[in-house]
Amino acid sequence: MRSVNTILNQNDERNKNDTQMIQLRPVNDTDIKFLYDILLERDKVVSISHKSTPSWISHSCFVKSFPYYTWDIIIVNGDRVGYIYITHYNEIGIHICKKYRRRGIASQAIEIYKSIHNRERYLANINPNNKASINLFTLLGFTHIQNTYELCRQSAQ
Ligand SMILES: CC(C)(COP(=O)(O)OP(=O)(O)OC[C@H]1O[C@@H](n2cnc3c(N)ncnc32)[C@H](O)[C@@H]1OP(=O)(O)O)[C@@H](O)C(=O)NCCC(=O)NCCS
Repeated sequence: MRSVNTILNQNDERNKNDTQMIQLRPVNDTDIKFLYDILLERDKVVSISHKSTPSWISHSCFVKSFPYYTWDIIIVNGDRVGYIYITHYNEIGIHICKKYRRRGIASQAIEIYKSIHNRERYLANINPNNKASINLFTLLGFTHIQNTYELCRQSAQ
């Protein structure tokens, strides 16, 4: 089983007195509850992929279906703090639990992922209201290339 360990960037002012060991390991069945809790804390205003919370059963099936090229849990000092994935179309998705944000964890995890999964290009689909994510990916060198519009059918009566 692959796992990656890295010390969070010590040049980062936020981490100077707080050494954090970041580790990635593939999602497995023991993470289903953790991932469901993340869905519950998700801010629907900034999420693109989910407008409503799926049932526990459909969530479990989704996790077990290997939906992405690779999907890892981010662990810092032994605690699960979020996840990162890359799709078959080179789209990176990431979520950091609220209490662990603004510590440089997402930036570090994305850099680790780029070093493991070498691609010609990477994409990130971001809701235009998601300022945190726009800032994060912009800081990492991503540029804005398109806006995508959608039309949702009304659910059948
Ligand atoms: C976006 C997200 C992944 C950032 O995670 P994080 O670990 O807090 O990010 P970092 O600490 O590495 O932040 C790096 C930079 O991103 C920007 N940023 C992060 N959070 C921000 C916020 N709430 N507001 C403004 N800028 C923000 C800042 O420029 C930050 O650098 P700084 O802290 O030195 O100012 C996290 O807020 C999250 O999980 N959000 C919900 C899920 C999501 O939106 N995922 C992205 C869609 S793929």
